[in-house]
Amino acid sequence: MTNQPAQSNFGRFAGKGVFSHQYAFTLLFPVRNIFLSPRQLVKRLELKPDAVVLEVGCGPGYFSPKVAAAIPNGKLVLADIQPEMLKKARARMEKKNQTNTDYYTCQGAGFDFPDNTFDRIFLITVMGEVEEKELYLKEFFRMLKPTGLLSVSEQAGDPDKLSIAQTTQLATQAGFAVNKLYGGERNYTLNFIK
Ligand SMILES: C[S@@+](CC[C@H](N)C(=O)[O-])C[C@H]1O[C@@H](n2cnc3c(N)ncnc32)[C@H](O)[C@@H]1O
Repeated sequence: MTNQPAQSNFGRFAGKGVFSHQYAFTLLFPVRNIFLSPRQLVKRLELKPDAVVLEVGCGPGYFSPKVAAAIPNGKLVLADIQPEMLKKARARMEKKNQTNTDYYTCQGAGFDFPDNTFDRIFLITVMGEVEEKELYLKEFFRMLKPTGLLSVSEQAGDPDKLSIAQTTQLATQAGFAVNKLYGGERNYTLNFIK
């Protein structure tokens, strides 16, 4: 009997599944701003300076410094399932002197944060990679404050990309209601309220 080889790093870059941390540098190419820039994201998140924000699947933190800068009296928690990604994100935040940041390694299941902790929870090109989508969304509902926003962005070219209908169905099943849609089917941000 032959063992099936594990998916190669290249497969995890170009194919479906968790994006390999070895290709994290490709997530920092500024050409990404064509689809969604950090500045645009900050506007879409409608942040107050003291907001407490959770970014799930932060990768190497392309969007994170601008978000942290927009909440000088608040806190940004960067979360990822790959500790290597968190290490890269931390290095990027330190280089940009952003200190209002915590780091959290996801286990692919429940989160260790109390109910009603966050004003914002956001994910960018992550939801399609998450194996336990329903559980994550239930957890987001639990951890989000009653006045909070869940923001899910998806981008063209991502092999795991979810359609607007798929994202909407998953979120509404967990109890969320659509608040705003930015963009269209190829590149979009969907904001949800509780
Ligand atoms: C395509 S990358 C996007 C990274 C970042 N959001 C960006 O846009 O640059 C997807 C990220 O989601 C993370 N991820 C995948 N499944 C996850 C899970 N179940 N929980 C937390 N993070 C996860 C991966 O490790 C990877 O860093």
